[in-house]
Amino acid sequence: MALYGIWYLLSFVAFVEITCCFSSQVYVVYMGGKTDESQDEVLWRNNQLLAAVHGGSMKKARESHVYSYSNGFRGFAAKLTEEQALAMADMPDVVSVFPNSRRQLHTTHSWDFMGLAPDEAMEIPGFSTKNQENVVIGFIDTGVWPESPSFHDDQMPPVPARWKGQCQSGESSSNFTCNRKIIGARYYLSGYIAENQINEFSSGSDGAVKYKSPRDSSGHGSHTASIAAGRYVNNMNFYGLAAGSARGGASFARIAVYKTCWDSGCYDADILAAFDDAIRDGVDILSLSLGPDSPQGDYFNDAISVGSFHATSHGIMVISSAGNVGTKGSVTNLAPWMLTVAAGSTDRDFASAIVLGNRTVILGESLSTIKMNKSVTIISASQANAGYFTPYQSSYCLESSLNSTKTRGKILVCHQAGSSSESKLVKSMVVKKAGGIGMILIDEYDGDVAVPFAIPAASVGKRAGDRILSYVNHTRRPRALILPPRTIMGSRPAPLVTSFSSKGPNSLNPDILKPDIAAPGLNILAAWSPAARQMNFNILSGTSMACPHVTGIAALIKAVYPSWSPSAIKSAIMTTASVLDQNGSAIKAEPDGRVANAFDYGSGFLSPVRVLDPGLVYDSQPSNYKTFLCSIGYDDKSLRLVTGDKSVCIRPAPPASNLNYPAISVPNIKSSFSVVRSVTNVGDSKSIYRAVVSPPSGINVTVVPKVLIFNNYGQKINFTVNFRVAAPSKGYVFGSLLWKSKDRRVTSPLIVRVSSFNKGLL
Ligand SMILES: *[C@@H]1O[C@H](CO)[C@@H](O)[C@H](O)[C@H]1NC(C)=O
Ligand SMILES: *[C@@H]1O[C@H](CO)[C@@H](O)[C@H](O)[C@H]1NC(C)=O
Ligand SMILES: *[C@@H]1O[C@H](CO)[C@@H](O)[C@H](O)[C@H]1NC(C)=O
Ligand SMILES: *[C@@H]1O[C@H](CO)[C@@H](O)[C@H](O)[C@H]1NC(C)=O
Ligand SMILES: *[C@@H]1O[C@H](CO)[C@@H](O)[C@H](O)[C@H]1NC(C)=O
Ligand SMILES: *[C@@H]1O[C@H](CO)[C@@H](O)[C@H](O)[C@H]1NC(C)=O
Ligand SMILES: *[C@@H]1O[C@H](CO)[C@@H](O)[C@H](O)[C@H]1NC(C)=O
Ligand SMILES: *[C@@H]1O[C@H](CO)[C@@H](O)[C@H](O)[C@H]1NC(C)=O
Repeated sequence: MALYGIWYLLSFVAFVEITCCFSSQVYVVYMGGKTDESQDEVLWRNNQLLAAVHGGSMKKARESHVYSYSNGFRGFAAKLTEEQALAMADMPDVVSVFPNSRRQLHTTHSWDFMGLAPDEAMEIPGFSTKNQENVVIGFIDTGVWPESPSFHDDQMPPVPARWKGQCQSGESSSNFTCNRKIIGARYYLSGYIAENQINEFSSGSDGAVKYKSPRDSSGHGSHTASIAAGRYVNNMNFYGLAAGSARGGASFARIAVYKTCWDSGCYDADILAAFDDAIRDGVDILSLSLGPDSPQGDYFNDAISVGSFHATSHGIMVISSAGNVGTKGSVTNLAPWMLTVAAGSTDRDFASAIVLGNRTVILGESLSTIKMNKSVTIISASQANAGYFTPYQSSYCLESSLNSTKTRGKILVCHQAGSSSESKLVKSMVVKKAGGIGMILIDEYDGDVAVPFAIPAASVGKRAGDRILSYVNHTRRPRALILPPRTIMGSRPAPLVTSFSSKGPNSLNPDILKPDIAAPGLNILAAWSPAARQMNFNILSGTSMACPHVTGIAALIKAVYPSWSPSAIKSAIMTTASVLDQNGSAIKAEPDGRVANAFDYGSGFLSPVRVLDPGLVYDSQPSNYKTFLCSIGYDDKSLRLVTGDKSVCIRPAPPASNLNYPAISVPNIKSSFSVVRSVTNVGDSKSIYRAVVSPPSGINVTVVPKVLIFNNYGQKINFTVNFRVAAPSKGYVFGSLLWKSKDRRVTSPLIVRVSSFNKGLL
């Protein structure tokens, strides 16, 4: 069984409503890599700089100071006016000044699926991952619920001696404690408070900041941490659905919590403070199920890009979610030093049978466990419009749009508008309030996400929705019955790429493929915060849930190969991924079932059983990322500011496509182009690999040399991939390069776009 069979997931609703447009009070002043100053010296110098924009007043400087960053990189966050921020940006040593932007958790489609797992001692065949107890995973998220059974510490050995983190318990009323599983916890409020102008708040009295501690009040952080590293839990279920046992990918790895996300989002100043602490604390991996809005801005104006650059330079692997926007080019977390994860489905569904009056049965998705006793009249919500609402408006079942005289006792067919944040759960409440008994929700884009509706209800895609509407339109007394959902397996090909998962190409640097990989992110059952809803487990969907699946697997690789660099681990995950579904057909993408490509799933779907034996890895060092920055236009001065060392750019800088990435993307080829890569042998010391190319349509691809002969473990060999335009093509075309030995397959996607200036020549 492929390991992704393990992530059996369910879902509920987290509202992450993002309202637009605020003027920032706090700015992050980023000053590049670290120097050897002590923390006191750093604070003193930062206050000097601040005093300079406050008319020389040290008092005002101290008042405006929010954070100083000194462990992994230099800089600070401070309350500034726009003029002061601009003045700051002109100072020597300052790399960038950016507003304390709010980032979103990637769970805007939060829903569920279910849990079942093999026994607690599950291992990847052929390897012992016992050393995972020495791997520390940091989660930058909404905190954690430490009493959850997913985080108990039975049989966990003492905390590794090298660990330098803290357990901040916060306000005493929140009773937050760590244990041998959750070995570190910190929380960051300053950036949030500065923007939300909550100077005083009492715990529990308002919804915004429930616990002034690392305790999770939303559920998101507990969910993501338990997917990656939750202990084995028997009898996990969601209202009886999906009953079984479940566990995280690395159930003995240690957890360090960095709570930066509050009810309205996560602010850059807080995120950067978390990175700074995590680098000093000694985490091995950082997992971030959050990201900037699309399109993403420049790397050094974004806390996650900045923080992850320095984390990676310190040997920490950073894994992030791709985003839930779903459209072409919407992927975020674009930096090549991160591993960015798209969301796919598993082979489980929460299928609710919709029985029409003519006995036709149509399956929808649901987590509503409320039973309907008999069939009732079914109408289109457009027929139940109230007052000033047009039938078209009412067909979306908006608040107050339904006439209760027309709705009472019936099932309504409602529409979902795009992938908006407007909640599906709320629609079921609107129908319920108007006296409706059930709801069918037609969602052309995301019919697959299961929702715990407030009444018997199910979501369906366009095709099933049309069949239901046609029955309603053409039947004199249309009736229907919605049965409670059942957990069913293998009803559709799996995995599929979900429609909400954000897609490539990379809008900043198309030479770098994003997303990098896909993992389960649809209807995932995992731990939850009882503060958000009285339950210990919940089912959610989103790239937020896909990210920690990869995090857990990265922790197992780190356990087996502690010396591997972040890029080697990333390469092992990417080159072993699968582009075929469980039936051996090409993976498809929702909502229309087209054949998926690298912009949907990166190098493919996570294959945990193969990651520990990749054969070859595409390794990169921090210096390679510096070269990459030169390739994309940084000069020596700006490069040194970013890195804080004496780096210089090689001129002419190599093309950005030459970064030793496990995927090859050539976004603007004229007639021919060559890319260099270097692979490191991490398999048998003596081994022979042959190149097998599946060329993108219209492109002639040759690899030199065609055969790689290794004599030693750790040996590196360079090769060149030559691309030549052979026939016209439009837009991006996709292929692959496979290095094949007797026992191993090392696969990289090839992505090519022929320059539009060249069309006339062909
Ligand atoms: C903390 O402990 C007190 C006393 O046992 C209890 O009343 C309170 O509900 C606890 N708070 C949380 C957040 O669990
Ligand atoms: C179904 O019947 C049961 C018992 O007869 C009743 O308690 C329940 O409210 C009914 N459900 C609905 C949706 O009417
Ligand atoms: C609701 O529908 C009933 C029956 O068609 C009608 O009499 C009533 O005026 C409507 N009410 C509103 C608020 O539209
Ligand atoms: C059903 O009828 C409505 C108008 O009454 C129309 O807008 C819709 O397209 C019809 N749908 C189908 C599937 O026949
Ligand atoms: C019931 O209605 C649906 C939708 O109009 C139609 O596809 C199906 O063939 C009908 N079934 C029967 C048995 O008439
Ligand atoms: C997968 O293949 C099996 C055997 O060929 C077939 O029975 C099944 O329907 C296929 N499943 C899907 C979802 O295509
Ligand atoms: C690709 O180019 C090489 C070298 O020019 C040539 O030998 C080969 O036939 C070409 N292959 C295709 C499929 O065009
Ligand atoms: C491989 O390529 C790298 C970078 O282009 C270069 O520094 C290195 O010397 C090459 N190694 C060999 C064995 O040619």
